[in-house]
Amino acid sequence: MTDTAKITLGDKTVDSPVLSGTVGPDVVDIRKFYAQTGAFTYDPGFTSTASCESQLTYIDGDEGVLLHRGYAIGDLAEQSSFMETCYLLLNGELPNGEELQTFENTITRHTMLHEQLATFYRGFRRDAHPMAVMCGVVGALSAFYPDSTEIHDPHQRMIASHRLIAKMPTIAAMAYKYSVGQPFVYPDNSLSYTGNFLRMTFGVPAEPYEVNPVVERALDRIFILHADHEQNASTSTVRLAGSSGANPFACIAAGIACLWGPAHGGANEAALNMLREIGRPERIPEYIARAKDKDDPFRLMGFGHRVYKNYDPRATVMQKTVREVFEALKVNDPVFEVALQLEEMALSDPYFVEKKLFPNVDFYSGVILSAIGFPTTMFTALFALARTVGWVAQWNEMISDPAQKIGRPRQLYTGPTHRPYVAVDKR
Ligand code: ACO
Repeated sequence: MTDTAKITLGDKTVDSPVLSGTVGPDVVDIRKFYAQTGAFTYDPGFTSTASCESQLTYIDGDEGVLLHRGYAIGDLAEQSSFMETCYLLLNGELPNGEELQTFENTITRHTMLHEQLATFYRGFRRDAHPMAVMCGVVGALSAFYPDSTEIHDPHQRMIASHRLIAKMPTIAAMAYKYSVGQPFVYPDNSLSYTGNFLRMTFGVPAEPYEVNPVVERALDRIFILHADHEQNASTSTVRLAGSSGANPFACIAAGIACLWGPAHGGANEAALNMLREIGRPERIPEYIARAKDKDDPFRLMGFGHRVYKNYDPRATVMQKTVREVFEALKVNDPVFEVALQLEEMALSDPYFVEKKLFPNVDFYSGVILSAIGFPTTMFTALFALARTVGWVAQWNEMISDPAQKIGRPRQLYTGPTHRPYVAVDKR
């Protein structure tokens, strides 16, 4: 591609530089466009707009590629651990043995919450959604760590990032415990990150809790698969909140709020509900017919993706993981058979083939999480736990970027133009 794009607006033609990344589409740099032409660009939903420069995550939706710092998600899910992936996202390189050990120790030392926060939980109704609790508690952490407001100090930023990654499992597990009326289980730092979370969620003080290694590995893999995903809605929210200089706990609370929406983090719950509703393989054709019917709003949940138009590489790992978990826990839930057959039938149907609709990460994740014992309300909370590393890595990257400015989109105004104020008795 040429290194400038000519854009003509009326009788004005401006040359806008074209920037190339290491891979992926070039971008037209329109930062001076308004100054040169007096016009804004318009792109609701950011479908053609790169909002920042980033070195963290690359997605090629046509090829079904997802890379973190250059490493394929399938390789990380199969061969790495969530802790290692966190280190990679935060620091840019995979750690050596010693670096990994030090990082794990650092995270382990920050798993406890200030005891005062237990009182904060008690202010919520017992039936509060875990995401409501998480938004509140993570935002409240700002009050406990005033040093985290020094966001231009890289050391303070890294401490805040470690605190957030370390405390999210404790916060999520406590939200669950509170909802079921069981006592909070304190972290046991002799366990792995994921094993510790399982024990804090499912353990009770009256009995020893043994971590099932297959479940621990499966959940760790789910965390890896959700660790980061480029400039999605919640990540962009974190960046936008952070661009004003807000402290990191407030920014991550904003990300959690955005993730909560059903179009973002809530789809795995919808996919599981759909599979349960189908119930038996014989009923699949009826649901496929409904998904294809233009007059029926029904869609196959867990199918399709805005970016992936070949396959979602995370779904492949998920499918394999369901099998392992079902075997290890001796689960005999027909929902998995329904999912497998639904996938097979849809992928051989011209409607789904032509529209490039494939299972996404959410198609199988609800099935696994439910088999492990998580209620559906916890699904998005687990997503938030795993995505925290992506959020903090992106936030760190944004603050260290010299080109960073406060995020301030413009608009196409279509409201009334100036009109005279009319006193209330004259209206
Ligand atoms: N079932 C049936 N038809 C579908 C489905 C589906 N799941 N998804 C898309 N289509 C059809 C649409 O009806 C449309 O058909 P048309 O061209 O004849 O009008 C065409 O495929 C394109 O669909 P769009 O909605 O325009 O595609 P978009 O990229 O905007 O949407 C989305 C992507 C929202 C994920 C969509 O595929 C969908 O609703 N899927 C189900 C929900 C889901 O699984 N969401 C999780 C996404 S992954 C994540 O967020 C972590």
